[in-house]
Amino acid sequence: MRLWGGRFEGTTDERVADFTRSIELDRALAIDDIAGSIAHVHGLGRAGLLADDEVAAIVAGLEGLRGEVRAGTIVWDPALEDVHMNLEAALRARIGALAGRLHTGRSRNDQVATDLRLWLRRTIDGLDGAILGMERALVGLAVRDGEAVMPGTTHIQPAQPVLLAHHLLAYVEMLERDRGRLADCRRRANVSPLGSGALAGAGYPLDREATAKELGFDGVTANSLDAVSDRDFVVEALAAIALCMVHLSRLAEEITWWSNPRFGFVRAADSFSTGSSMMPNKKNPDPAELVRGRAARVIGSLTGMLALLKGLPLAYQRDLQEDKPPLFEAAATLEASLGVMAGMISTLTVDRERMRAAAGEGYVTATAVADALVRRGVAFRAAHHVVGTLVAEAERSGVGLEALDDATIAAALAASDDGIAFTIMGDAALPGELRAAAGLDGALAGCDVVGGTAPRRVAAALAVARARLGV
Ligand code: ARG
Repeated sequence: MRLWGGRFEGTTDERVADFTRSIELDRALAIDDIAGSIAHVHGLGRAGLLADDEVAAIVAGLEGLRGEVRAGTIVWDPALEDVHMNLEAALRARIGALAGRLHTGRSRNDQVATDLRLWLRRTIDGLDGAILGMERALVGLAVRDGEAVMPGTTHIQPAQPVLLAHHLLAYVEMLERDRGRLADCRRRANVSPLGSGALAGAGYPLDREATAKELGFDGVTANSLDAVSDRDFVVEALAAIALCMVHLSRLAEEITWWSNPRFGFVRAADSFSTGSSMMPNKKNPDPAELVRGRAARVIGSLTGMLALLKGLPLAYQRDLQEDKPPLFEAAATLEASLGVMAGMISTLTVDRERMRAAAGEGYVTATAVADALVRRGVAFRAAHHVVGTLVAEAERSGVGLEALDDATIAAALAASDDGIAFTIMGDAALPGELRAAAGLDGALAGCDVVGGTAPRRVAAALAVARARLGV
């Protein structure tokens, strides 16, 4: 029986029933729907709309249903359209006609808005734990192999040496901001729409604050039209989820490159790789690739949700039912991606020698050499030019900066027309000093500012992360 059938004479066309039903999806809200109903029934009791024994009987029935939902024994009837009507019908089957009083002062519009906020709250709590798990995996690898030196890049070209720990901690920073964004979204979403009715506000003197408190909300929505039609919180959650997926995708991209034998920086564990059906040699980082691929779908969910809202007049429109697939899918995708990436990172083998050898290419210590000249009183622009000519010279002779002889260095200094003082040029110790600065360890140590890659700075940052994460 349709719960809204009073004014209808004909039956619903089967195609319409198929087209409009949402039970397959919104049954994920069952636990939240029951929690909302129990609080609402308590509120009806407080308002004198239900007697104490009626409240007790309805609540007992709802708790029984909650047990069925948790046990997975509840039978969803597709003919009953959505989770709300399924649960009301199931309640009627348990407690009889009294179930008909449950929906007093409530509409599915404020009901579903409440359910979705409750669902999002607990989902964000789960995602927060999953992000922390990913952070722990990154920090764990930084503890294990973080001293490895790698060529940091800009424009994908070798730029300056950095510690692997520094690189990994960059992702920890991103993930911390992701946690912050989700927490922020949770805070704004954590208000109760119950009592807003279909759009104009319930027709009974309900104590909305008390019901909100019972459900753990921080307060109530201030405008009934907004309450039933607002899905800002869905967009905010999707934006935060999409951005976190983008962060994972960037890391996934790096892991796929690093595990290419040309790089050989890392090897993925067999348990986090897959093979090829044709090429016996293949070992592919498929989990990372799929994280990168799924990020695209989640970005689609975000843009889809924005498009869903942009033309909707107030208040509730049925279009809003389409908020659930993108939100549910995006949250599940992020959770699974975090799990698979955390596993991949924790089981990664790092080849420190390969990384260090790669850092020896591309003259990545040139900036450090220029900095050493500046410390001797040379203007940075002049130092930049001199070291540039040294790089060109080293490239011509096929050696590293640390292998240039005294004469070559002296010639480069003398050729500079930037007025380098003779006292500096004539200093016999200078070439040796510059060769020392051209070493990887000196270059690393030179970046000694808060947030820099100097080993002591990275050690401090790692200690902070370890203390925070308890690893
Ligand atoms: N399944 C609907 C949704 O998710 C529930 C609210 C339906 N309200 C209505 N008046 N038809 O949006």
